Amino acid sequence: METEVQKTIDESKQGEATMVAGKSGAKKLYLESYGCQMNFADSEIVASILSETGFSTTKNSAEADVIFMNTCSIRENAETRVRNKLSQFNKQKKRNPKLVIGILGCMAERLKKDLLEEEKLVDIVAGPDSYRDLPNLIEEVSGGQKAVNVLLSREETYADVSPVRLGEGGVTAFISIMRGCDNMCSFCVVPFTRGRERSRDPQSIVEEAKQLVEAGYKEVTLLGQNVDSYRWNITKKGEIIDPEKEVVSFAQLMEKVAQVSPELRIRFSTSHPKDMTDDVLHVIKKYENICNYIHLPVQSGNSDVLKRMNRGYTREWYLERIAAIRRIVPEAAISTDIITGFCGETEEEHQDTVSLMKEVGYDFSYMFFYSERPKTLAQRKFEDDIPEDIKKKRLNEVQALQSELSYKANEKVVGETHKVLVEGTSKRSEDDLYGRNSQNMTVIFPKEHYKPGDYVQVKIEGFTSATLRGVAITE
Ligand code: 5AD
Ligand code: SF4
Repeated sequence: METEVQKTIDESKQGEATMVAGKSGAKKLYLESYGCQMNFADSEIVASILSETGFSTTKNSAEADVIFMNTCSIRENAETRVRNKLSQFNKQKKRNPKLVIGILGCMAERLKKDLLEEEKLVDIVAGPDSYRDLPNLIEEVSGGQKAVNVLLSREETYADVSPVRLGEGGVTAFISIMRGCDNMCSFCVVPFTRGRERSRDPQSIVEEAKQLVEAGYKEVTLLGQNVDSYRWNITKKGEIIDPEKEVVSFAQLMEKVAQVSPELRIRFSTSHPKDMTDDVLHVIKKYENICNYIHLPVQSGNSDVLKRMNRGYTREWYLERIAAIRRIVPEAAISTDIITGFCGETEEEHQDTVSLMKEVGYDFSYMFFYSERPKTLAQRKFEDDIPEDIKKKRLNEVQALQSELSYKANEKVVGETHKVLVEGTSKRSEDDLYGRNSQNMTVIFPKEHYKPGDYVQVKIEGFTSATLRGVAITE
């Protein structure tokens, strides 16, 4: 989906000049991210691009020269939160008229007109593929104009941008391996806000992983809307693009990243049931440092609902993929995403979701009630006909079930010893550390002499539905 850009090439060149001139400056950027992990990873790209023009990031919005909100459109309440926060920042702008406020990410394309022209809440609107243009957009705004770039690209992957890590701890990091999505699930706004799917050069991904290892990082999460359709140098139809270059699938990419260092843990998100191959599972099994954890969103346990959702698989297909995981990587924990109250969902169809959850025995689930999104297939084709109280009742039901399932999953590992990567000090007690095991379960244990970044063998002694508790075992 190509949309307008209010810039010319000459203006961009001017921007580049200011980029260099501004390097020694001390302007402050405050970045707030909403939504998925990809948005958090994108904020690190934004921080990197703007560091080239003399911006350093701040955690204090009151001292910022520029405030960017990296926004999410996936559900309506995500957008409402951003709007509320924008009003708050606009009060700050009344006191400091030089303050620049911008929105980035998924709401940019959707709401540019409303936020910029009608409500006058922002100075800059920049979509997910236009972050290289941010220095120019900021320049433009300092000249008193409003600035917009919501052009979506077929190529942009920010492969050469080395992200400024904004997360705490320096232990875990995200690496974007692809952008956009071509799936067109009928409920989902992502293909409209993030554009067409494109994969990033594997060499640049491996380089980024190496740099992270050198900087002391111990875990990377490879990110994409649908990582199983990662492909390099080969078209969807299987035609090789450049015979001189290597072809890389997701399974092969994971293998390359796993080989960077045995000390570096690999996670990935998100897999798609219609595309997840046994090859990927065999690679997970082969490498000790690829975590035994698969997030495989099902959305619904009923094949008719899945058809309306345009997910490209049936309940039976999904269960066969689960069986493949159990067969090839029996140690793997499995989590999912579920939507309750999708268009036309009957009580019986909902019960199929409940029964599927029990059958799979998910370790964890992210659960949502359906929220109609503009432009999507579902909005155009189906009526959003399930009353909110029923959507929420069904949501409560699956949430209660998931608590039970998580409790059982945690109960099962009591008495076992698990390798935990320490991420930080527990929020509840200074004397405890927290980290995750390979299965992505959070484990808390007494600090002793251990520190973030250590791998520690922890004997699990207690649990709740959310966390495991244990003690370090000296080897
Ligand atoms: N309403 C509710 N949940 C949604 N998701 C995506 N779009 C919607 C929507 N319109 C959920 C899906 C997806 C997760 C990231 O968000 O479960 O997997
Ligand atoms: Fe949305 Fe489906 Fe793409 Fe996920 S796979 S981003 S749910 S369209």
